[in-house]
Amino acid sequence: MPRVYVDKVVGDLYILRVDDDETRYFEALWSIPEGVTYNSYVLLTSEGAVVFDTWKHIYADLYVETLRRVVDLRDVKYIVVHHTEPDHSGSLPKLLEVTGNAPTVLGHPIAKQLISAFYGIEPRFRAVKDLEEIVVGGKKLKFIYIPWLHWPDTIATYIVDYGALLTCDAFGGFGLPKTIYDDDDAVVEWYKPFVRKYAVDIVGRYREYIVKNIEKIMSLNIDVKIVAPAHGLVWRRNPKQIIDLYYDIGSAKPSEGKVLVIYSSMYGIQEKSMNVVVEELRARGFKTVIHRFTDREQASLGDVLADAIDAEAIVIGISTYDAAPFPLVELAIKLLVAKVNAEKPVLIINTFGWGKLSEDTIKSLFSSSRFRIVDIVSVRGAPQRSDVERIKQGVEKLVNSIRK
Ligand code: FEO
Repeated sequence: MPRVYVDKVVGDLYILRVDDDETRYFEALWSIPEGVTYNSYVLLTSEGAVVFDTWKHIYADLYVETLRRVVDLRDVKYIVVHHTEPDHSGSLPKLLEVTGNAPTVLGHPIAKQLISAFYGIEPRFRAVKDLEEIVVGGKKLKFIYIPWLHWPDTIATYIVDYGALLTCDAFGGFGLPKTIYDDDDAVVEWYKPFVRKYAVDIVGRYREYIVKNIEKIMSLNIDVKIVAPAHGLVWRRNPKQIIDLYYDIGSAKPSEGKVLVIYSSMYGIQEKSMNVVVEELRARGFKTVIHRFTDREQASLGDVLADAIDAEAIVIGISTYDAAPFPLVELAIKLLVAKVNAEKPVLIINTFGWGKLSEDTIKSLFSSSRFRIVDIVSVRGAPQRSDVERIKQGVEKLVNSIRK
C-alpha cells in the first residue's frame, strides 16, 4: 500500500500526495529507484470544490478514496487539468465516473483533445485563456499559460487569496521526501539533486522555456508565497529557493570545478585512458563526477543528464563497438544533445582496436548541438606513453576552454 499524505497547505487548500515506489522507469525511460510523488490539490469554497490534477492511473481507486477524506464528491465543481500527461490525468476518468461527469474540466484548449485521445471521454470542458481570472466561492484563481514545461498544454494556477502558485511539473522533482514542505533544510538538500534530475530528464528539451516562463511569472508582479508542484516538495517557507534552482537549471548554470566524465569500458582498457583524464583533472583541482558502462555497472542515463546540466565541462570516452560508437554511450550523447544541449566544452577520448571511428563520425553525434568539442584523442588499446601525453594535452585544452 503506497504512502498517502493529506494535509492543509494553507486556508482551504489541501494537498493529496501519494508516494509511488512501484514505478521503476518513469515515462518507461528514466530509472527512478528514488521514487516519485504525485501531488493533487483541492480548494474548498462556498460554491464547491476545485480539484487540481490527479494521480497516475494505477492509484485511481486510492485517489478517489483519499479525495473523499477532504470533500463530498458531489461538491466537486471544477477539475483543473494543468497538463494532460497521464501521471497527473490518469485518475481523471475514474474521478469523472464517480462524480457522474458533473464537474467542469478546466484547462488549456489542447487539453480537451488530449483527454479525448488518451481516455476516449468527452467531459464537460471549458478552455481557459492565458491570464484569465475566475472567482469560485469568493476565491480568485488566475490561470497562467506556461507552455513547454514540458508540453504545449501546460498551465499554472495562481490562487490569489493565498499567493499559491500550482505549477504541475514545473518546480517538481523525483524522490519521496520525508516531509511535505520545505521546512527541513536536511530534506531540502537531500532533495535538490532529484529536482535537477527531474527538470533535466523531463523538461530539459524545452529548458529555455523554464527561463522564459519564470520571467513571465515574475513580470506579472504577483506575490508568490507558495509554490505547489505536482511532484515532490511544496515550497512555502522559501519558494524563491525552488524558483532560483529551476532558473539555474533552465540556464544550465555551471557549478564551479565540476566535470562530468562518461565512458564505457568492456574489458577495462578504455578505463586506463579515462583514469589518466580523471587524475589529471583532479590534480588541477577539479571535482570529477563519473558515470560508467562496464561489465559491473550501468550508469543511469537520467543521472548522467542531471550531472551534465551543471557541469563546467564534459569528458566522454567513446570506445568502438562493431565499427560504431559503443551503443549506450551513443544513446547517452543523443540524450545529452536532446535534453541538455548547452554551451559546454567536451573532450572525447576514442579507444579502438581494429576499427577506429573517424572524427567526422564522432562530430556527427554532436551535430546541431551547442556543445563544443575541444579535442578528440584516439587511442589504440591501452594508452602508451605518447597516448598519455596526448590525453594530458586534451585535458589542457578542456581546462583552457573552461577558463576562457
Ligand atoms: Fe509529471 Fe509531464 O508529467
